[in-house]
Amino acid sequence: MDVCTNGSQLDYDRVKELQAFDATKAGVKGLVDLGTKAIPRIFIRPPEELVQELSTPCVKLEVPVINFEGIDRSKDRYNEVVEQVLDASENWGFFQVVNHGISSEVLDKMLQGIRSFFEQDDEVKKNFYSRDMTKQVKYMSNYDLYNSRAANWRDTLAVDTYKIDYLDPNELPEICRDAMLDYFNQVLKLSDVLLELLSMGLGLEPNYLKETECTKGWASINHYYPACPAPKLTLGTCKHTDPAFLTILLQDQIGGLQVLHKNQWVDVQPIPGALVINIGDILQIISNDKLKSVNHRVTANQVGPRISSAFFLKGISSSSKLYGPIKELLSEKKNPAIYREFTLDAFYAHFFSRPLDDAGFEYLKIQNHGDGM
Ligand code: OGA
Ligand code: NI
Repeated sequence: MDVCTNGSQLDYDRVKELQAFDATKAGVKGLVDLGTKAIPRIFIRPPEELVQELSTPCVKLEVPVINFEGIDRSKDRYNEVVEQVLDASENWGFFQVVNHGISSEVLDKMLQGIRSFFEQDDEVKKNFYSRDMTKQVKYMSNYDLYNSRAANWRDTLAVDTYKIDYLDPNELPEICRDAMLDYFNQVLKLSDVLLELLSMGLGLEPNYLKETECTKGWASINHYYPACPAPKLTLGTCKHTDPAFLTILLQDQIGGLQVLHKNQWVDVQPIPGALVINIGDILQIISNDKLKSVNHRVTANQVGPRISSAFFLKGISSSSKLYGPIKELLSEKKNPAIYREFTLDAFYAHFFSRPLDDAGFEYLKIQNHGDGM
């Protein structure tokens, strides 16, 4: 029997099958296009996970939906929204925003652009296929393919300015270039609004979080989730928290994104024109656990493709800054630092050395926290 238990245990059959899949450069979409009816075993979740799934309930709750309308005109509205954003970030780590100022036209064009990238001529698409970490623009299936216990049912087009904070528009795939440039431009403006609201919520100066330089480097991670013939056996994206300050997610109307809230999976229902916002690991750390970076995942689906675009505020690699709990939020007795300081390079190096569902940031916890002096 070919049983692969974890990434650190070499299983040559599995590695060979992963390599064969990787070498096609056609991704999961390539398998579906071939008419694959049974999903290859590299995608099948470990048996203990499939069993555990049966005992994790899904409940009908709704992630908070926040209306940004009028926050630039009325002080009362602004303060109200600061409270809503803070409350959602503390209790859910997730919320949806409507009337955020980005037009539906820009959003739809972005989703359509991503879809056309994946559905264009295979030979053009394959030129972008790469696992080179230094490449700013690349397409691949499962960035953690060789580390993961089970591959996920999705392909990804990544644009990442963390290492080189200048983006040459000509590097973007022509088929979605204009759509991406319009979207990036708008989503960066919305990022500033969100960071200001979060700074205010934390009781900091309005520009505090922006000054962490978290918007200087970002990644646009664009997913294509093909229809899956066996959605119960695999996942679109396995359970994880986001290695970033903040994520702004654009999803189409198919659904499948779920948030782990009080140990239950809650669907993030698609709302036309809305964006999903979630707190990333770094905001949880620097807020000393006040804001929550919450586990989420995407189920595989019999229907598809599903398209989504995650915009991560990452900060920049060239920064020598040390990040850690914000001093203004700490007090020696009531709220001592829970995490030690780290550089972004060390943080992302750790993340990329792990499988997505086993990365996290526990390792940054100060060991003897709570043990007294
Ligand atoms: C991610 C993510 C969710 C989605 O890229 O980190 O959680 O809906 N994506 O694709
Ligand atoms: Ni995520």
